[in-house]
Amino acid sequence: MTWRQTEGPRVVLPQDAIVTAQRDFMRSKLMYSQLILEGLTTHNFDMIHEAIANMKMVTEGELWVTVDDDPEYIELTQAFKKAAVRLQEAVDTKSVDGTAMRFYQLNTTCIDCHQYIRARGYKL
Ligand code: HEC
Repeated sequence: MTWRQTEGPRVVLPQDAIVTAQRDFMRSKLMYSQLILEGLTTHNFDMIHEAIANMKMVTEGELWVTVDDDPEYIELTQAFKKAAVRLQEAVDTKSVDGTAMRFYQLNTTCIDCHQYIRARGYKL
């Protein structure tokens, strides 16, 4: 279930393979979100902790889609990262309500960025 970016030898992929890998990589955020919800509903804080750690690896991975010359996209990425850190902190307190609130805030950053990329017509 864990996506490990550093595993195995580095290979140079043809452009379309990079796009496919990037798409899967970006999409994995949704899987980690689901695991966070599962952890919240089953009171499994270890599951939430691991899911956020993996989600943060996605954000910091080199397949994360970057748009260097777009300050707004960079800001949206920062907001997402900040929300993930706050969620991680809430998990450490083992409060379901606190974690749920931070999870809600993280989800807002997902939707904000996705609305933005749709409006801009960014597509892989
Ligand atoms: C800062 C911007 C940004 C944030 C924040 C962000 N995403 Fe994404 N996401 C992207 C980009 C860029 C893509 C690739 C778009 C494409 O496929 O053309 C993507 C792709 C996806 C896809 C695949 C979409 C498709 O058409 O197949 C899903 C699902 C997704 N993200 C879910 C999430 C979830 C869930 C979160 C929050 C936990 C999130 N994203 C946060 C930028 C973002």
